[in-house]
Amino acid sequence: MPEPRFCTLQWRAMPATTPKTTASLTRSPAWRALTAHRRAWNTLHLRDLFATDPGRFARFSLEAGGLFLDYSKNLIVDETRALLVQLARERGLPDHVAALLAGKRVNSTERRAAWHSALRAGNAAPREVKHSLAAMRRFSDELRTGRVSGAGGRTITDVVSLGIGGSALGPALVANACAPDAAAPRVHFVTTPGEPLTRQLAALDPAATLLIVQSKSFSTMETMRNAEAARAWLKACGIDDCTPHLAAVTAGTDTATAFGVAADRVFPLWDWVGGRYSVWSAVGLPAMIAMGAAAFDEFLAGAAAMDAHFAEAPPERNMPMLMALLGIWHGNGFGAASRAVISYEPALKLLPPYLQQLEMESLGKRVTRKGKPLRTGSSAIVWGGLGVDAQHAYMQALHQGTQLVPVDFIAACSPRHGDHDTHALTLANCFAQSALLMRGVTADEALQASLAANVAATDAKRLAPHQTLPGNRPSNTLLLPALTPRSLGALLALYEHRTFAQAALWDINAFDQYGVEHGKRLAGALLPGLSGIRKAASADASTDGLIQHSIAHNRRPQ
Ligand code: F6P
Repeated sequence: MPEPRFCTLQWRAMPATTPKTTASLTRSPAWRALTAHRRAWNTLHLRDLFATDPGRFARFSLEAGGLFLDYSKNLIVDETRALLVQLARERGLPDHVAALLAGKRVNSTERRAAWHSALRAGNAAPREVKHSLAAMRRFSDELRTGRVSGAGGRTITDVVSLGIGGSALGPALVANACAPDAAAPRVHFVTTPGEPLTRQLAALDPAATLLIVQSKSFSTMETMRNAEAARAWLKACGIDDCTPHLAAVTAGTDTATAFGVAADRVFPLWDWVGGRYSVWSAVGLPAMIAMGAAAFDEFLAGAAAMDAHFAEAPPERNMPMLMALLGIWHGNGFGAASRAVISYEPALKLLPPYLQQLEMESLGKRVTRKGKPLRTGSSAIVWGGLGVDAQHAYMQALHQGTQLVPVDFIAACSPRHGDHDTHALTLANCFAQSALLMRGVTADEALQASLAANVAATDAKRLAPHQTLPGNRPSNTLLLPALTPRSLGALLALYEHRTFAQAALWDINAFDQYGVEHGKRLAGALLPGLSGIRKAASADASTDGLIQHSIAHNRRPQ
Protein backbone atom coordinates (compact mmCIF):
# COMPACT_ATOMS: atom_id res chain seq x y z
CA MET A 1 0.00 0.00 0.00
CA PRO A 2 1.26 3.56 -0.75
CA GLU A 3 2.67 5.77 2.07
CA PRO A 4 -0.46 6.66 4.14
CA ARG A 5 -1.59 10.19 3.24
CA PHE A 6 -5.25 11.06 2.53
CA CYS A 7 -4.67 11.59 -1.18
CA THR A 8 -5.67 15.22 -1.48
CA LEU A 9 -4.15 15.85 -4.88
CA GLN A 10 -4.56 12.34 -6.23
CA TRP A 11 -5.92 13.06 -9.68
CA ARG A 12 -5.00 16.64 -10.37
CA ALA A 13 -3.22 16.88 -13.71
CA MET A 14 -2.02 20.48 -13.37
CA PRO A 15 -0.36 22.05 -10.34
CA ALA A 16 -2.78 23.30 -7.70
CA THR A 17 -3.32 27.02 -7.32
CA THR A 18 -3.56 28.17 -3.67
CA PRO A 19 -7.01 27.23 -2.46
CA LYS A 20 -8.33 29.87 -0.15
CA THR A 21 -11.62 28.50 1.04
CA THR A 22 -11.53 27.72 4.72
CA ALA A 23 -14.37 25.25 4.18
CA SER A 24 -11.88 23.12 2.24
CA LEU A 25 -12.69 19.44 2.57
CA THR A 26 -9.11 18.53 3.43
CA ARG A 27 -9.10 20.82 6.45
CA SER A 28 -12.22 19.34 8.00
CA PRO A 29 -11.58 17.55 11.30
CA ALA A 30 -13.19 14.33 10.01
CA TRP A 31 -11.01 14.35 6.91
CA ARG A 32 -7.91 14.77 9.06
CA ALA A 33 -9.03 11.97 11.34
CA LEU A 34 -9.66 9.77 8.31
CA THR A 35 -6.17 10.57 7.04
CA ALA A 36 -4.73 9.30 10.32
CA HIS A 37 -7.10 6.32 10.37
CA ARG A 38 -5.99 5.38 6.84
CA ARG A 39 -2.69 4.13 8.33
CA ALA A 40 -4.52 1.32 10.10
CA TRP A 41 -5.35 -0.16 6.70
CA ASN A 42 -1.71 -0.84 5.97
CA THR A 43 -2.01 -3.82 8.26
CA LEU A 44 -5.73 -4.64 8.36
CA HIS A 45 -7.07 -7.38 6.10
CA LEU A 46 -10.76 -8.05 5.52
CA ARG A 47 -10.18 -11.79 5.77
CA ASP A 48 -9.08 -11.40 9.39
CA LEU A 49 -11.87 -8.97 10.18
CA PHE A 50 -14.46 -11.48 8.97
CA ALA A 51 -12.71 -14.29 10.81
CA THR A 52 -12.79 -12.44 14.14
CA ASP A 53 -16.10 -10.60 13.82
CA PRO A 54 -19.16 -12.78 13.12
CA GLY A 55 -21.44 -9.73 13.34
CA ARG A 56 -19.65 -7.83 10.58
CA PHE A 57 -22.13 -8.70 7.79
CA ALA A 58 -25.16 -7.75 9.89
CA ARG A 59 -23.58 -4.44 10.97
CA PHE A 60 -22.49 -3.42 7.47
CA SER A 61 -25.59 -4.21 5.46
CA LEU A 62 -28.97 -2.55 5.13
CA GLU A 63 -32.21 -2.45 3.19
CA ALA A 64 -33.84 0.58 1.59
CA GLY A 65 -36.39 1.15 -1.13
CA GLY A 66 -36.70 -2.63 -1.53
CA LEU A 67 -32.97 -3.02 -2.26
CA PHE A 68 -30.46 -4.87 -0.07
CA LEU A 69 -26.90 -3.56 0.21
CA ASP A 70 -24.03 -5.60 1.65
CA TYR A 71 -21.14 -3.19 2.17
CA SER A 72 -19.24 -5.35 4.65
CA LYS A 73 -16.61 -6.24 2.04
CA ASN A 74 -15.32 -2.66 1.93
CA LEU A 75 -12.14 -1.44 3.62
CA ILE A 76 -14.00 -0.27 6.70
CA VAL A 77 -14.32 -0.99 10.38
CA ASP A 78 -16.70 0.71 12.81
CA GLU A 79 -14.27 3.58 13.32
CA THR A 80 -14.07 4.17 9.57
CA ARG A 81 -17.84 4.39 9.26
CA ALA A 82 -18.08 6.68 12.27
CA LEU A 83 -15.51 9.05 10.76
CA LEU A 84 -17.16 8.97 7.35
CA VAL A 85 -20.52 9.75 8.94
CA GLN A 86 -18.87 12.57 10.88
CA LEU A 87 -17.56 13.88 7.57
CA ALA A 88 -21.07 13.77 6.11
CA ARG A 89 -22.39 15.80 9.06
CA GLU A 90 -19.50 18.27 8.96
CA ARG A 91 -20.14 18.84 5.24
CA GLY A 92 -23.84 19.42 5.97
CA LEU A 93 -24.86 16.58 3.71
CA PRO A 94 -28.38 16.19 5.11
CA ASP A 95 -29.00 19.92 4.42
CA HIS A 96 -27.75 19.56 0.87
CA VAL A 97 -30.14 16.62 0.42
CA ALA A 98 -33.04 18.61 1.81
CA ALA A 99 -32.27 21.47 -0.59
CA LEU A 100 -32.07 19.10 -3.56
CA LEU A 101 -35.37 17.35 -2.79
CA ALA A 102 -37.12 20.65 -2.05
CA GLY A 103 -36.27 21.96 -5.50
CA LYS A 104 -33.80 24.59 -4.34
CA ARG A 105 -31.28 26.02 -6.82
CA VAL A 106 -28.58 23.44 -6.15
CA ASN A 107 -27.28 23.80 -9.71
CA SER A 108 -25.08 26.70 -8.59
CA THR A 109 -23.59 27.66 -11.96
CA GLU A 110 -26.78 27.61 -14.04
CA ARG A 111 -28.75 28.87 -11.00
CA ARG A 112 -31.42 26.22 -11.36
CA ALA A 113 -33.01 23.51 -9.33
CA ALA A 114 -32.23 19.85 -10.10
CA TRP A 115 -35.63 18.60 -9.20
CA HIS A 116 -35.75 15.19 -10.84
CA SER A 117 -37.33 13.83 -7.65
CA ALA A 118 -40.43 15.92 -8.45
CA LEU A 119 -40.90 13.84 -11.61
CA ARG A 120 -41.66 10.79 -9.46
CA ALA A 121 -43.47 12.51 -6.61
CA GLY A 122 -46.86 11.07 -7.59
CA ASN A 123 -49.72 13.15 -6.20
CA ALA A 124 -47.24 15.63 -4.74
CA ALA A 125 -45.73 16.32 -8.17
CA PRO A 126 -46.05 19.80 -9.73
CA ARG A 127 -49.05 20.18 -11.99
CA GLU A 128 -47.03 20.40 -15.19
CA VAL A 129 -45.42 17.07 -14.33
CA LYS A 130 -48.79 15.41 -13.76
CA HIS A 131 -50.07 16.94 -16.99
CA SER A 132 -47.06 15.66 -18.93
CA LEU A 133 -47.35 12.16 -17.45
CA ALA A 134 -51.03 12.05 -18.37
CA ALA A 135 -50.22 13.02 -21.96
CA MET A 136 -47.46 10.37 -22.08
CA ARG A 137 -49.84 7.69 -20.76
CA ARG A 138 -52.51 8.65 -23.29
CA PHE A 139 -50.11 8.55 -26.24
CA SER A 140 -48.35 5.34 -25.19
CA ASP A 141 -51.72 3.61 -24.60
CA GLU A 142 -52.90 4.71 -28.05
CA LEU A 143 -49.70 3.37 -29.63
CA ARG A 144 -49.83 0.11 -27.67
CA THR A 145 -53.43 -0.49 -28.67
CA GLY A 146 -52.82 0.22 -32.37
CA ARG A 147 -54.77 3.49 -32.37
CA VAL A 148 -51.96 5.57 -33.89
CA SER A 149 -51.47 5.35 -37.62
CA GLY A 150 -49.21 6.87 -40.23
CA ALA A 151 -50.07 9.21 -43.09
CA GLY A 152 -51.27 6.28 -45.18
CA GLY A 153 -53.48 4.91 -42.43
CA ARG A 154 -51.13 2.07 -41.48
CA THR A 155 -50.94 1.28 -37.74
CA ILE A 156 -47.62 2.31 -36.20
CA THR A 157 -45.66 -0.86 -35.43
CA ASP A 158 -42.18 0.61 -34.84
CA VAL A 159 -41.02 3.62 -32.83
CA VAL A 160 -37.52 5.01 -33.38
CA SER A 161 -36.17 7.18 -30.56
CA LEU A 162 -33.54 9.61 -31.84
CA GLY A 163 -31.55 11.07 -28.96
CA ILE A 164 -28.15 10.93 -27.31
CA GLY A 165 -26.63 11.08 -23.84
CA GLY A 166 -29.26 11.65 -21.19
CA SER A 167 -31.95 11.69 -23.86
CA ALA A 168 -31.15 8.08 -24.80
CA LEU A 169 -29.14 6.17 -22.18
CA GLY A 170 -31.93 6.13 -19.55
CA PRO A 171 -34.90 5.19 -21.72
CA ALA A 172 -32.82 2.58 -23.61
CA LEU A 173 -31.74 1.01 -20.31
CA VAL A 174 -35.29 0.96 -18.90
CA ALA A 175 -36.90 -0.31 -22.10
CA ASN A 176 -34.25 -3.01 -22.45
CA ALA A 177 -34.61 -4.04 -18.81
CA CYS A 178 -38.38 -3.87 -18.44
CA ALA A 179 -40.08 -4.29 -21.79
CA PRO A 180 -41.57 -7.71 -22.51
CA ASP A 181 -39.87 -9.47 -25.42
CA ALA A 182 -42.92 -9.20 -27.68
CA ALA A 183 -43.46 -5.50 -26.96
CA ALA A 184 -45.84 -3.80 -29.40
CA PRO A 185 -44.96 -1.43 -30.93
CA ARG A 186 -41.25 -2.29 -31.15
CA VAL A 187 -39.07 0.51 -29.80
CA HIS A 188 -35.61 1.20 -31.26
CA PHE A 189 -32.94 3.62 -30.06
CA VAL A 190 -30.48 5.33 -32.38
CA THR A 191 -27.90 7.75 -30.98
CA THR A 192 -25.15 7.92 -33.60
CA PRO A 193 -25.64 9.55 -37.03
CA GLY A 194 -24.79 7.80 -40.29
CA GLU A 195 -24.63 4.06 -40.71
CA PRO A 196 -26.43 3.11 -37.47
CA LEU A 197 -29.46 5.14 -38.53
CA THR A 198 -29.37 3.90 -42.12
CA ARG A 199 -29.24 0.29 -40.94
CA GLN A 200 -32.07 0.82 -38.49
CA LEU A 201 -34.37 2.51 -40.99
CA ALA A 202 -33.60 -0.06 -43.67
CA ALA A 203 -35.18 -2.67 -41.43
CA LEU A 204 -38.41 -0.71 -41.04
CA ASP A 205 -41.56 0.08 -43.00
CA PRO A 206 -41.75 3.90 -43.22
CA ALA A 207 -45.55 3.84 -43.41
CA ALA A 208 -45.71 2.15 -39.98
CA THR A 209 -42.83 4.01 -38.28
CA LEU A 210 -42.99 6.81 -35.71
CA LEU A 211 -39.92 8.94 -35.01
CA ILE A 212 -39.50 10.52 -31.58
CA VAL A 213 -36.86 13.28 -31.55
CA GLN A 214 -35.53 13.35 -27.98
CA SER A 215 -33.43 16.40 -27.19
CA LYS A 216 -33.72 18.76 -24.24
CA SER A 217 -31.99 21.51 -26.25
CA PHE A 218 -33.40 20.39 -29.63
CA SER A 219 -30.05 21.48 -30.99
CA THR A 220 -27.63 18.61 -30.34
CA MET A 221 -25.80 18.05 -33.61
CA GLU A 222 -25.99 14.26 -33.71
CA THR A 223 -29.69 14.14 -32.84
CA MET A 224 -30.70 16.87 -35.26
CA ARG A 225 -28.68 15.29 -38.06
CA ASN A 226 -30.51 11.99 -37.39
CA ALA A 227 -33.88 13.75 -37.21
CA GLU A 228 -33.31 15.45 -40.56
CA ALA A 229 -32.02 12.24 -42.16
CA ALA A 230 -34.96 10.21 -40.86
CA ARG A 231 -37.47 12.81 -42.03
CA ALA A 232 -35.78 12.82 -45.45
CA TRP A 233 -36.10 9.00 -45.45
CA LEU A 234 -39.87 9.30 -44.89
CA LYS A 235 -40.14 11.80 -47.74
CA ALA A 236 -37.93 9.69 -49.99
CA CYS A 237 -40.34 6.81 -49.33
CA GLY A 238 -43.22 8.92 -50.60
CA ILE A 239 -44.54 10.24 -47.31
CA ASP A 240 -45.02 13.95 -47.99
CA ASP A 241 -46.89 14.77 -44.78
CA CYS A 242 -44.54 13.50 -42.08
CA THR A 243 -46.57 14.94 -39.19
CA PRO A 244 -48.30 11.65 -38.25
CA HIS A 245 -44.83 10.03 -38.07
CA LEU A 246 -43.23 12.59 -35.76
CA ALA A 247 -43.17 13.32 -32.04
CA ALA A 248 -40.66 15.16 -29.87
CA VAL A 249 -39.50 15.38 -26.27
CA THR A 250 -37.78 18.69 -25.57
CA ALA A 251 -37.50 21.93 -23.61
CA GLY A 252 -37.27 23.65 -27.02
CA THR A 253 -40.96 23.27 -27.79
CA ASP A 254 -41.05 26.08 -30.36
CA THR A 255 -38.09 24.66 -32.24
CA ALA A 256 -39.79 21.27 -32.32
CA THR A 257 -42.99 22.64 -33.82
CA ALA A 258 -40.91 24.60 -36.31
CA PHE A 259 -39.27 21.29 -37.24
CA GLY A 260 -42.72 19.99 -38.16
CA VAL A 261 -43.86 18.22 -35.01
CA ALA A 262 -47.55 18.74 -34.18
CA ALA A 263 -48.03 20.71 -30.96
CA ASP A 264 -49.90 17.85 -29.28
CA ARG A 265 -46.98 15.54 -30.06
CA VAL A 266 -44.40 17.76 -28.33
CA PHE A 267 -43.77 16.47 -24.80
CA PRO A 268 -42.15 19.16 -22.66
CA LEU A 269 -39.04 19.11 -20.55
CA TRP A 270 -38.04 21.80 -18.09
CA ASP A 271 -34.72 23.47 -17.40
CA TRP A 272 -34.80 22.15 -13.83
CA VAL A 273 -34.40 18.61 -15.19
CA GLY A 274 -30.81 17.72 -16.08
CA GLY A 275 -30.37 15.51 -19.15
CA ARG A 276 -28.69 12.68 -17.26
CA TYR A 277 -31.43 12.87 -14.58
CA SER A 278 -34.34 13.00 -17.04
CA VAL A 279 -35.44 9.38 -17.62
CA TRP A 280 -38.38 9.98 -15.22
CA SER A 281 -39.73 12.76 -17.44
CA ALA A 282 -41.08 12.58 -21.01
CA VAL A 283 -37.57 11.43 -21.95
CA GLY A 284 -38.85 8.11 -20.59
CA LEU A 285 -41.69 8.05 -23.15
CA PRO A 286 -40.04 5.42 -25.42
CA ALA A 287 -39.62 3.21 -22.35
CA MET A 288 -43.25 3.77 -21.34
CA ILE A 289 -44.33 2.80 -24.86
CA ALA A 290 -42.25 -0.38 -24.61
CA MET A 291 -43.26 -1.41 -21.07
CA GLY A 292 -46.70 0.20 -20.63
CA ALA A 293 -47.86 3.11 -18.45
CA ALA A 294 -48.60 0.97 -15.39
CA ALA A 295 -45.08 -0.46 -15.39
CA PHE A 296 -43.62 3.02 -15.86
CA ASP A 297 -45.63 4.19 -12.83
CA GLU A 298 -44.07 1.33 -10.89
CA PHE A 299 -40.65 2.55 -12.05
CA LEU A 300 -41.44 6.03 -10.72
CA ALA A 301 -42.74 4.62 -7.45
CA GLY A 302 -39.54 2.65 -6.91
CA ALA A 303 -37.51 5.84 -7.26
CA ALA A 304 -39.86 7.75 -4.95
CA ALA A 305 -39.25 5.16 -2.23
CA MET A 306 -35.49 5.75 -2.54
CA ASP A 307 -36.08 9.53 -2.43
CA ALA A 308 -37.93 9.11 0.86
CA HIS A 309 -35.11 7.01 2.28
CA PHE A 310 -32.49 9.52 1.12
CA ALA A 311 -34.44 12.32 2.79
CA GLU A 312 -35.19 10.60 6.05
CA ALA A 313 -32.48 8.08 6.97
CA PRO A 314 -29.55 9.34 9.06
CA PRO A 315 -26.15 9.06 7.32
CA GLU A 316 -25.15 5.93 9.20
CA ARG A 317 -28.19 4.12 7.76
CA ASN A 318 -28.57 6.03 4.50
CA MET A 319 -27.77 3.81 1.51
CA PRO A 320 -26.85 6.51 -1.07
CA MET A 321 -24.85 8.47 1.50
CA LEU A 322 -22.92 5.41 2.65
CA MET A 323 -22.13 4.41 -0.94
CA ALA A 324 -20.97 7.98 -1.66
CA LEU A 325 -18.79 8.05 1.46
CA LEU A 326 -17.26 4.67 0.57
CA GLY A 327 -16.57 5.99 -2.93
CA ILE A 328 -14.64 8.92 -1.45
CA TRP A 329 -12.87 6.69 1.08
CA HIS A 330 -11.58 4.29 -1.60
CA GLY A 331 -10.98 6.99 -4.18
CA ASN A 332 -9.32 9.69 -2.10
CA GLY A 333 -8.08 7.40 0.66
CA PHE A 334 -6.67 4.52 -1.36
CA GLY A 335 -6.16 6.13 -4.75
CA ALA A 336 -8.72 3.99 -6.57
CA ALA A 337 -8.96 5.83 -9.91
CA SER A 338 -11.80 3.73 -11.31
CA ARG A 339 -14.89 1.88 -10.18
CA ALA A 340 -16.50 -1.13 -11.81
CA VAL A 341 -20.23 -1.84 -11.89
CA ILE A 342 -20.75 -5.51 -12.64
CA SER A 343 -24.24 -6.87 -13.04
CA TYR A 344 -25.24 -10.50 -12.83
CA GLU A 345 -28.69 -9.57 -14.15
CA PRO A 346 -28.37 -9.76 -17.96
CA ALA A 347 -31.18 -7.28 -18.53
CA LEU A 348 -29.02 -4.60 -16.92
CA LYS A 349 -26.37 -4.72 -19.63
CA LEU A 350 -27.00 -1.03 -20.44
CA LEU A 351 -26.47 0.06 -16.82
CA PRO A 352 -22.71 0.83 -17.04
CA PRO A 353 -22.99 3.31 -19.93
CA TYR A 354 -25.92 4.97 -18.14
CA LEU A 355 -23.87 5.30 -14.94
CA GLN A 356 -20.83 6.52 -16.86
CA GLN A 357 -22.78 9.58 -17.97
CA LEU A 358 -24.59 10.01 -14.67
CA GLU A 359 -21.47 9.92 -12.53
CA MET A 360 -18.69 11.12 -14.81
CA GLU A 361 -20.62 14.02 -16.37
CA SER A 362 -21.77 14.99 -12.86
CA LEU A 363 -18.57 14.46 -10.88
CA GLY A 364 -15.87 14.95 -13.52
CA LYS A 365 -15.09 18.41 -12.17
CA ARG A 366 -11.93 20.16 -10.99
CA VAL A 367 -13.30 23.22 -9.21
CA THR A 368 -15.60 23.76 -6.24
CA ARG A 369 -19.03 25.38 -6.56
CA LYS A 370 -17.23 28.69 -5.95
CA GLY A 371 -14.82 27.98 -8.81
CA LYS A 372 -11.84 27.23 -6.58
CA PRO A 373 -9.49 24.40 -7.67
CA LEU A 374 -10.30 21.13 -5.89
CA ARG A 375 -7.72 19.90 -3.35
CA THR A 376 -8.81 16.32 -3.80
CA GLY A 377 -9.45 13.94 -6.62
CA SER A 378 -13.03 13.85 -7.90
CA SER A 379 -14.90 11.46 -10.22
CA ALA A 380 -13.72 7.89 -10.59
CA ILE A 381 -13.67 6.39 -14.06
CA VAL A 382 -16.83 4.28 -14.06
CA TRP A 383 -16.93 1.17 -16.19
CA GLY A 384 -18.34 -2.31 -16.12
CA GLY A 385 -20.48 -4.91 -17.79
CA LEU A 386 -22.15 -8.27 -17.26
CA GLY A 387 -20.55 -10.42 -14.58
CA VAL A 388 -20.62 -13.73 -16.40
CA ASP A 389 -18.77 -12.13 -19.34
CA ALA A 390 -16.45 -10.18 -17.02
CA GLN A 391 -15.21 -13.39 -15.41
CA HIS A 392 -13.84 -14.50 -18.74
CA ALA A 393 -12.43 -11.09 -19.61
CA TYR A 394 -11.16 -8.59 -17.03
CA MET A 395 -11.81 -10.17 -13.59
CA GLN A 396 -8.21 -11.45 -13.79
CA ALA A 397 -6.94 -7.90 -13.43
CA LEU A 398 -9.36 -7.11 -10.61
CA HIS A 399 -8.09 -10.14 -8.65
CA GLN A 400 -4.37 -10.04 -9.42
CA GLY A 401 -3.65 -6.68 -11.07
CA THR A 402 -1.94 -3.82 -9.22
CA GLN A 403 -4.85 -1.35 -9.58
CA LEU A 404 -7.33 -1.17 -6.72
CA VAL A 405 -10.77 -1.19 -8.37
CA PRO A 406 -13.77 -1.09 -6.04
CA VAL A 407 -16.69 -3.02 -7.51
CA ASP A 408 -20.46 -2.78 -7.23
CA PHE A 409 -21.91 -6.23 -7.87
CA ILE A 410 -25.61 -6.19 -8.75
CA ALA A 411 -27.85 -9.25 -8.85
CA ALA A 412 -31.47 -10.29 -8.41
CA CYS A 413 -32.56 -12.84 -5.80
CA SER A 414 -35.10 -14.38 -8.15
CA PRO A 415 -34.86 -14.82 -11.91
CA ARG A 416 -37.40 -13.30 -14.32
CA HIS A 417 -37.22 -16.27 -16.64
CA GLY A 418 -38.05 -18.95 -14.07
CA ASP A 419 -34.86 -20.95 -14.73
CA HIS A 420 -33.87 -21.20 -11.09
CA ASP A 421 -31.01 -23.63 -11.70
CA THR A 422 -29.23 -21.29 -14.07
CA HIS A 423 -29.99 -18.44 -11.71
CA ALA A 424 -28.42 -20.28 -8.79
CA LEU A 425 -25.29 -20.73 -10.90
CA THR A 426 -25.27 -17.02 -11.72
CA LEU A 427 -25.59 -16.03 -8.06
CA ALA A 428 -22.90 -18.50 -7.05
CA ASN A 429 -20.52 -16.83 -9.47
CA CYS A 430 -21.47 -13.35 -8.28
CA PHE A 431 -20.90 -14.19 -4.62
CA ALA A 432 -17.68 -16.09 -5.38
CA GLN A 433 -16.15 -13.07 -7.08
CA SER A 434 -16.82 -10.67 -4.21
CA ALA A 435 -15.70 -13.24 -1.63
CA LEU A 436 -12.36 -13.80 -3.37
CA LEU A 437 -11.77 -10.09 -3.92
CA MET A 438 -12.26 -9.73 -0.18
CA ARG A 439 -10.33 -12.60 1.28
CA GLY A 440 -7.90 -13.46 -1.54
CA VAL A 441 -5.94 -16.72 -1.76
CA THR A 442 -2.67 -17.04 0.13
CA ALA A 443 0.40 -18.69 -1.37
CA ASP A 444 -0.03 -21.55 1.03
CA GLU A 445 -3.67 -22.05 0.10
CA ALA A 446 -2.66 -22.07 -3.57
CA LEU A 447 0.08 -24.58 -2.84
CA GLN A 448 -2.25 -26.84 -0.87
CA ALA A 449 -4.87 -26.67 -3.62
CA SER A 450 -2.32 -27.70 -6.24
CA LEU A 451 -1.07 -30.56 -4.10
CA ALA A 452 -4.66 -31.65 -3.47
CA ALA A 453 -5.09 -31.67 -7.25
CA ASN A 454 -2.06 -33.99 -7.50
CA VAL A 455 0.22 -31.38 -9.00
CA ALA A 456 3.87 -32.29 -8.48
CA ALA A 457 5.31 -30.51 -5.43
CA THR A 458 7.97 -28.70 -7.48
CA ASP A 459 5.35 -27.38 -9.93
CA ALA A 460 2.99 -26.53 -7.07
CA LYS A 461 5.73 -24.45 -5.43
CA ARG A 462 6.70 -22.83 -8.73
CA LEU A 463 3.09 -21.88 -9.52
CA ALA A 464 1.92 -20.77 -6.08
CA PRO A 465 3.06 -17.11 -6.44
CA HIS A 466 1.19 -16.93 -9.78
CA GLN A 467 -1.98 -18.31 -8.19
CA THR A 468 -2.02 -16.04 -5.15
CA LEU A 469 -4.73 -13.38 -4.82
CA PRO A 470 -3.94 -10.51 -2.42
CA GLY A 471 -7.58 -9.91 -1.49
CA ASN A 472 -8.51 -6.85 0.60
CA ARG A 473 -10.25 -5.56 -2.51
CA PRO A 474 -13.44 -3.68 -1.75
CA SER A 475 -16.88 -4.37 -3.14
CA ASN A 476 -20.54 -3.70 -2.53
CA THR A 477 -23.20 -6.24 -3.39
CA LEU A 478 -26.64 -4.88 -4.23
CA LEU A 479 -29.46 -7.42 -4.30
CA LEU A 480 -32.81 -6.70 -5.94
CA PRO A 481 -35.67 -9.00 -4.94
CA ALA A 482 -36.12 -9.41 -8.70
CA LEU A 483 -35.53 -7.05 -11.61
CA THR A 484 -38.85 -5.21 -11.91
CA PRO A 485 -39.73 -1.65 -12.95
CA ARG A 486 -40.01 -0.79 -9.24
CA SER A 487 -36.62 -2.20 -8.23
CA LEU A 488 -34.99 -0.62 -11.28
CA GLY A 489 -36.49 2.75 -10.31
CA ALA A 490 -35.05 2.42 -6.82
CA LEU A 491 -31.65 1.36 -8.21
CA LEU A 492 -31.31 4.32 -10.58
CA ALA A 493 -32.47 6.78 -7.92
CA LEU A 494 -29.91 5.23 -5.55
CA TYR A 495 -27.11 5.99 -8.00
CA GLU A 496 -28.45 9.50 -8.68
CA HIS A 497 -28.39 10.23 -4.96
CA ARG A 498 -24.99 8.57 -4.49
CA THR A 499 -23.71 10.93 -7.18
CA PHE A 500 -25.25 14.01 -5.59
CA ALA A 501 -23.96 13.07 -2.13
CA GLN A 502 -20.41 12.74 -3.47
CA ALA A 503 -20.72 16.12 -5.19
CA ALA A 504 -21.91 17.74 -1.97
CA LEU A 505 -19.06 16.18 0.02
CA TRP A 506 -16.50 17.43 -2.53
CA ASP A 507 -18.36 20.78 -2.78
CA ILE A 508 -18.72 20.52 -6.56
CA ASN A 509 -21.76 21.22 -8.77
CA ALA A 510 -23.12 17.92 -10.11
CA PHE A 511 -25.53 19.48 -12.56
CA ASP A 512 -23.55 21.36 -15.20
CA GLN A 513 -21.30 20.00 -17.94
CA TYR A 514 -19.42 22.97 -19.38
CA GLY A 515 -16.52 20.70 -20.22
CA VAL A 516 -18.33 19.13 -23.17
CA GLU A 517 -19.28 22.36 -24.90
CA HIS A 518 -15.81 23.26 -26.23
CA GLY A 519 -15.58 20.03 -28.19
CA LYS A 520 -18.91 20.69 -29.87
CA ARG A 521 -17.81 24.18 -30.93
CA LEU A 522 -14.44 23.03 -32.20
CA ALA A 523 -16.04 20.17 -34.13
CA GLY A 524 -18.37 22.74 -35.70
CA ALA A 525 -15.35 24.81 -36.72
CA LEU A 526 -13.48 21.85 -38.19
CA LEU A 527 -16.46 20.39 -40.08
CA PRO A 528 -16.54 22.71 -43.16
CA GLY A 529 -12.89 21.90 -43.87
CA LEU A 530 -13.49 18.16 -43.61
CA SER A 531 -16.57 18.24 -45.78
CA GLY A 532 -14.73 20.17 -48.49
CA ILE A 533 -17.00 23.22 -48.16
CA ARG A 534 -14.03 25.48 -47.60
CA LYS A 535 -10.37 25.35 -46.62
CA ALA A 536 -10.05 23.74 -43.21
CA ALA A 537 -9.69 26.23 -40.36
CA SER A 538 -6.25 25.82 -38.88
CA ALA A 539 -6.18 24.26 -35.42
CA ASP A 540 -2.79 22.79 -34.53
CA ALA A 541 -0.25 20.88 -36.57
CA SER A 542 -1.57 17.51 -35.44
CA THR A 543 -5.22 18.32 -36.07
CA ASP A 544 -4.45 19.99 -39.38
CA GLY A 545 -2.36 16.99 -40.34
CA LEU A 546 -5.11 14.55 -39.44
CA ILE A 547 -7.59 16.58 -41.49
CA GLN A 548 -5.30 16.68 -44.50
CA HIS A 549 -4.53 12.96 -44.21
CA SER A 550 -8.20 11.99 -43.94
CA ILE A 551 -9.15 14.27 -46.86
CA ALA A 552 -6.38 12.72 -48.96
CA HIS A 553 -7.60 9.20 -48.12
CA ASN A 554 -11.31 9.87 -48.24
CA ARG A 555 -12.92 8.15 -51.23
CA ARG A 556 -15.61 10.88 -51.27
CA PRO A 557 -16.78 11.33 -54.90
CA GLN A 558 -15.35 14.68 -56.11
O1 F6P B 1 -23.18 16.98 -24.59
C1 F6P B 1 -23.62 16.51 -23.41
C2 F6P B 1 -25.11 16.64 -23.30
O2 F6P B 1 -25.48 17.96 -23.19
C3 F6P B 1 -25.65 15.83 -22.16
O3 F6P B 1 -25.57 16.47 -20.94
C4 F6P B 1 -27.06 15.56 -22.63
O4 F6P B 1 -27.65 14.53 -21.94
C5 F6P B 1 -26.81 15.24 -24.10
O5 F6P B 1 -25.73 16.10 -24.48
C6 F6P B 1 -27.97 15.42 -25.01
O6 F6P B 1 -28.46 16.72 -24.94
P1 F6P B 1 -29.92 17.08 -25.52
O7 F6P B 1 -30.91 16.28 -24.77
O8 F6P B 1 -30.05 18.55 -25.34
O9 F6P B 1 -29.92 16.70 -26.98
